[in-house]
This record gives sequence, structure tokens and C-alpha cells, in this order.
Amino acid sequence: MAEKTLILIKPDAVKVGNTGKILSIYEASGLKIVALRMLVMTRELAAKHYEEHIGKTFYSRLVDFMTSGPLAAAVLEGETAVAKARAVNGATDPLQAEAGTIRKLFAEDKTHNAVHASDSVKNAEREISIFFSEAEIFDI
Ligand code: PPS
Repeated sequence: MAEKTLILIKPDAVKVGNTGKILSIYEASGLKIVALRMLVMTRELAAKHYEEHIGKTFYSRLVDFMTSGPLAAAVLEGETAVAKARAVNGATDPLQAEAGTIRKLFAEDKTHNAVHASDSVKNAEREISIFFSEAEIFDI
């Protein structure tokens, strides 16, 4: 069954002009872009999106980075989209990421790691609703 997932192209990747390349990698993996926008995250929005990480040692570093400049948010659709987007992203730490993954290609470290993707179907639904209204998600 087709799923939807949320991906974010983080400020590090947007800043150096890798947005289009990264979107192409998702499309080449068979995932369809059904919603797309650019924005600067506020700290409030970051707290909603990263609610499960509030209180962790890296939380303020993560939020400082994610609010530091424009990012791109997209909804991707396809068979097993949640698992597929995370496989295409590669491991959180680029040192652990497999060859050919987005993080192996474009990430610097565990903070500046180019992309985010939802980690479950339930979280995908929650995260998509933070960034997009129903009317902004297309049936393509
Ligand atoms: S956890 O605790 O295992 O759930 O965390 P993890 O999945 O590894 O990472 C969750 C997100 O936090 C970011 N992260 C960090 N940011 C800053 N500093 C450090 N040390 C750090 N470690 C992890 C990581 O990039 C993940 O972001 P998203 O956007 O979810 O990929």
C-alpha cells in the first residue's frame, strides 16, 4: 500500500545548493513528491516536530541548527515510503552511512546531516500535519 512520509532538506544542504540534487535522489528511488515548500523553522515549530527529543543532550544544538536558515519540506509518496526514504537518507551519523546514500554524499556530522525523514507511519502523519494542510498535498 502506498504510504506518505515527511522529509526535510536541512539548512546545511539548502545553503550549499544541494536541494535539487537531493530531491532528484528521492525521485530516482521511485518516491513521488506530492507536496513541497521552503520555510525557516521557528523554535516553536522545531519543538513540535522534535517533541520526542526534548530534554536530550543534543536538543538545543539540534534546534539551533534547524532554525538557522531556510529548509525545504516535502511529502513523498510511494510503496513503503517511510522505510524507503530512511534507507535513501542513510545513517544519522554520516560516518556510518552507506555509499550512495544522501548523508554519505552530503552530510558533515550528526548535526549537519542534510536530511530528515519520518521514522514511522504514525510519526509521518503527525509530522506531515505540522508542515502541510490537506489542501497542499496533491493526488498526483
Ligand atoms: S535518538 O536519540 O537515537 O532517537 O536520536 P537520533 O535518531 O540519532 O537523532 C535524532 C535527531 O537528532 C539529531 N542528532 C543530533 N543533533 C545534534 N547533535 C547531536 N549530537 C545529534 N545526534 C542526533 C539527528 O540529526 C536527528 O535529526 P533528524 O532530523 O531526526 O534526522
